[in-house]
Amino acid sequence: MADTPKGFDNGLTNYGDRDFARYLRRSFAKSMGYTDKSLDKPIVGICTTESGFNNCHRHFPELTEAVKRGVLAAGALPVSFPVISLGEVFLSPTSLIYRNLMAMAVEEMIRAQPMDAVVLMGGCDKTVPALLMGAASAGKPAALLVGGPMMTGRHKGERLGACTDCRRFWANYRGGSVDTDEINRVEGRLAVTAGTCAVMGTASTMALIGETLGMMLPGTAAIPAVHADRLRAAEETGELAAGFALNGGPAPDQLITPASVENALRVLLAVSGSTNAVIHLAAIAGRLGIALDLDEMNRLSDETPVLVDLKPVGAGYMEDFHTAGGLEAVLRGLSDQLNAECRDITGQSLAERLARPLSDPIDRSVIRTPDDPVDPKGGLIALTGSLAPGGAILKRAAATPALLEHEGRAVVFSSLEDLANRIDDPDLDVTAEDILVLQNAGPRSASGMPEAGYLPIPKKLARAGVKDMVRISDARMSGTAFGTIVLHVTPEADLGGPLALVRNGDRIRLSAAGKRIDLLVDAQELDRRRAAFRPPVPVAGRGYLELYRRSVLPASEGCDFDFLRAQD
Ligand code: FES
Repeated sequence: MADTPKGFDNGLTNYGDRDFARYLRRSFAKSMGYTDKSLDKPIVGICTTESGFNNCHRHFPELTEAVKRGVLAAGALPVSFPVISLGEVFLSPTSLIYRNLMAMAVEEMIRAQPMDAVVLMGGCDKTVPALLMGAASAGKPAALLVGGPMMTGRHKGERLGACTDCRRFWANYRGGSVDTDEINRVEGRLAVTAGTCAVMGTASTMALIGETLGMMLPGTAAIPAVHADRLRAAEETGELAAGFALNGGPAPDQLITPASVENALRVLLAVSGSTNAVIHLAAIAGRLGIALDLDEMNRLSDETPVLVDLKPVGAGYMEDFHTAGGLEAVLRGLSDQLNAECRDITGQSLAERLARPLSDPIDRSVIRTPDDPVDPKGGLIALTGSLAPGGAILKRAAATPALLEHEGRAVVFSSLEDLANRIDDPDLDVTAEDILVLQNAGPRSASGMPEAGYLPIPKKLARAGVKDMVRISDARMSGTAFGTIVLHVTPEADLGGPLALVRNGDRIRLSAAGKRIDLLVDAQELDRRRAAFRPPVPVAGRGYLELYRRSVLPASEGCDFDFLRAQD
C-alpha cells in the first residue's frame, strides 16, 4: 500500500490528474522560495489569530516565530495560516455570534490545506473554544498554544487587572465615588500588556480547560503572555507538533473524551471559572458526541472544592496563579477526584504527570488544599425550575451569600433597549429586594446572547450603596464579572420560554441550595400569558447572521450550530 501523502502532497486539488495537481502545487509553492528539500518535509500548519482588532493577541507574531523555530529544529516544515480572530470587545453585537464562524474557518482550513498536524494559537475568550471545536471536527493531530494572561497595572498603589477592576471602577463611577478625571486615568491602567484578561475570566478558564482536556503542553496554560517561558512553551509546542507530523500523533477525539471532559468540569468548578466556559465546553464536547449534563455538573459541584483565590471571586490575579503553581497545583489538589487515565498531547497519563515531584512549592495563599478550601463546594451550579425548565447557570461563588436564598418582586425589562432606556430612570419602581429580569437576550435573539446578564444596579440604588441584586436573564455574563446573577435561562424568551411570560410584580424565588429558580405565578395565569405570547418577528436577514439565527442551538447545547455537532 502506498504511503499516506505527507506535506504539500496532502489533499491535492482535484483536476482529474493527480500528477498535474502535484506539479502545479509545487510550482506555486516554489514561488515562495522553498527548496525541494523543504517541500518534501511533513508540514505543521500554524493556525494564527493575530489581528489589529485583537489586543490580547498582539504578541502573536513573536510567538509564531518561536513555534516555527521548534518545528524546523525537529525536522518538519512550519506553515502559518490565518483564520478570523475574535477580539472580545471589538465585535458587535457580540463575539459569541462569531465563535461558530471562526470554528468553521478553523475546521475547514485544517481540512482543506495540506498539513499533517496543526498548532492552534488563540487566547481571547472565544478563540480557544473556536479552535478546539474546529480542530475536534477536523480530526488532525493538534496542539493548542494560548497567548497567556496580561500582567497587572497600577493605580494609586493598587494593582489593577482587566477586567474585574474595570467593572468595579465603573460601578464606583456610577455610584459617584469615582469622578470623571479618575475614571479616565484608570482607563489607561487596566490592560497594560499583551495577553488575555488578568483574572480568572473566560480566557483564563478556557486555557485551563484546554490543558485539562490534554490539548496543550502540561504546565503552559497560565504562563504570562510577556514571560520568556511563554516563548519557550511556543518553541516546545512546535517541536511536539513536528513529531506528530513526522510520526503521527493523537487526534483530538483521542484526548477529548467523556473522562477528560469530566476532569475539565472539575477544574472549572475548582477555579470558580467563567460561566461562559459551560457553554464552550458543551460546544467542544458536542463536536465529539459527548453531552454535558447539568445534573451531573451539579453532582460534581457539590463535591468539588474551590481551591483558587483569584478575582473576580477572590483576591489574586493570573500572574499570582502562575507563580503559585498554576494548573498543576489545582490538579494535585483534585487528584482523588480526577480520571487519572486521561492522556495529554505528550502521551503521558494524568497519573504519570501527577506522580512526578513538584519542582517548586505551591503558594497556599493563592491555591489552597482540599482540606482548607476557599469554599467546600464548586463555584458554579445549574438551576432548574418553573422559570428555567431547560436549565440556567449561577456562579454561586461570585454571589452575595445572603441573596442565594431569595424571593422578590420582578422588575422586567423586555429587551436591551428597554433596559438602557429605563434602568436609570429616577421614577423606576425598584427596591434592593426586587429581582431584575432581562428578556430577549438569548442565543436566538437579535442581540445574540451578549454579556448583558450583569445588569447594572439602577443608579438611584447604586448611589444609595446597593452593590448587588438578584438578576436573571437568558444572556451571558463576562467571566470577569460578579454578583448574584442567573444566566443562560433556557428556553430563552425569544422562543417563548417561561422567561418571556414574566411580568412586573410577579414573585420569583431563587434557591441555590435547592438548585431552583421558580416563577411563582399560578398555572392558569401562565397558560393565559402563553396563549397571548407572540414571538418577536425575526428581522429578515442574509449571510452569516441569517445562518446563525436559523441554526443556533440553546445554551445547554453550547450555542453551536445544529449541523456542526457530531451526527448520531
Ligand atoms: Fe481578550 Fe479579555 S478581552 S481575554
